[in-house]
Amino acid sequence: TSSSIDRAESLIAATPDYPEPGVTFRDLSPLFADGDAMKAVCEELIAPFVGTFDIVGGIEARGFLLAGYIAATTGTGMLSIRKAGKLPKPAAAVSYALEYGTATIEAPGVLTAGERVLLVDDVLATGGTIAAARQLISDLGAETVGAAAILELDGLDGRDHAGPVHTLFHAPA
Ligand code: PRP
Ligand code: HPA
Repeated sequence: TSSSIDRAESLIAATPDYPEPGVTFRDLSPLFADGDAMKAVCEELIAPFVGTFDIVGGIEARGFLLAGYIAATTGTGMLSIRKAGKLPKPAAAVSYALEYGTATIEAPGVLTAGERVLLVDDVLATGGTIAAARQLISDLGAETVGAAAILELDGLDGRDHAGPVHTLFHAPA
């Protein structure tokens, strides 16, 4: 319901100057901890994509929370998109820039050709993570049918990098 969604938004905490001066960090931990908020948010994240995806791609670490929940409630599988060095046999790897720092993500070789992936994550910041995840899915011969994130940080041009992303809330970067 809209009141559950409004409550979910109110559960996002902001911490100035973390992890470095000038960055205001948005922490979704209180939202993740609330059953009603998680249910409302996960339903809204997938609303435009119901019936269009075969598997949910979650990006380590916070995307896993959402992808696991959505996979369980929709009866689809989950693709774990991992930070570098965690998989014994990564099938693909892509490096990218973060709002702060750089990272590499990797995926296991579990997708079939043309499999339809819905990407989910908690925050859209610069868009580098979702752009890299799209590249990863493409390199694996599968298809990204959509991307969704709970919170979009405005002013970082995330959409310009990530392509279309369905986001629920906005906050200044
Ligand atoms: C955060 C967040 C997104 C990404 C967004 O993850 O969970 O995945 O950054 O930033 P971008 O749009 O600029 O790419 P982080 O890399 O901090 O990893 P974590 O979930 O393991 O904390
Ligand atoms: N919160 C959570 N994840 C993030 C943020 C943030 O403010 N910026 C980049 N990734």
